[in-house]
Amino acid sequence: MDADRTGQSAPGTLLSVRGAERTFQVGGQKIPVLKGIDMELRPNQLVMLRGRSGSGKTTLLNMLGGLDVPTKGEIVFHGHAFHKLGDEERTAIRREKIGFIFQTYALMPLLSAWENVELSLRMAGAPRGEWKARVSHCLELVGLTKRADHRPYELSGGEQQRVAIAKAIAHRPAMLLADEPTAELDSQMGAQVMAVFREIIATENVTICMTTHDPTILEVADHVYEMVDGRFKAS
Ligand SMILES: Nc1ncnc2c1ncn2[C@@H]1O[C@H](COP(=O)(O)OP(=O)(O)OP(=O)(O)O)[C@@H](O)[C@H]1O
Ligand SMILES: [Mg+2]
Repeated sequence: MDADRTGQSAPGTLLSVRGAERTFQVGGQKIPVLKGIDMELRPNQLVMLRGRSGSGKTTLLNMLGGLDVPTKGEIVFHGHAFHKLGDEERTAIRREKIGFIFQTYALMPLLSAWENVELSLRMAGAPRGEWKARVSHCLELVGLTKRADHRPYELSGGEQQRVAIAKAIAHRPAMLLADEPTAELDSQMGAQVMAVFREIIATENVTICMTTHDPTILEVADHVYEMVDGRFKAS
């Protein structure tokens, strides 16, 4: 990769965002949604984004993961300047280094828990010989070894979300992005998911950035960014 496409960030920083703005164009009208975001993610951190509906959390999370690019400003992940790269290059980085978890699990309905996790290794191009041990390890991490053969509809919501976590970390991403991963779960299952996140950070060398509305969940964060109308409130 040439020097122009790489980015500099402070040592020990996994991702840095500088002056990021995102404006959407709808029917000739410009809608500013992110209005100057500065943030940092360091290795092995659990960072949360909170804020009212419509404040811009999902828009920002999509940019952290390279699904979208800022209208203005910089996003540097793992030495890659996302704001300077095209779709294909960002997709390649995302496949290798980033995992996503959504509110509604996003599992393949006809595949078992095992096959869902295996699919992610297949997509990432991991050598076939490594699949079995890695799938087994990831399902064990989320406490679902005994449910490996179940399809999503044969699992509870919390179990489905834990399969989604196993799937998202199987290819050993450096960063996991989760958009309201506990919103569909009751408080006990939500707490289980958070315990799994803590375990993954401790053992898998990953940083997790997630959005949530739940005050009890915010308590376990290493850092919370509060978003108000496209900006972070000083904390
Ligand atoms: N593709 C788009 N085109 C136009 N406007 C958009 C687009 N995506 C998001 N927006 C607008 O940006 C604002 C922020 O949306 P976003 O989804 O980031 O909010 P959020 O904080 O995740 O809210 P919630 O808590 O409801 O999920 C909203 O007003 C939304 O209408
Ligand atoms: Mg959202």
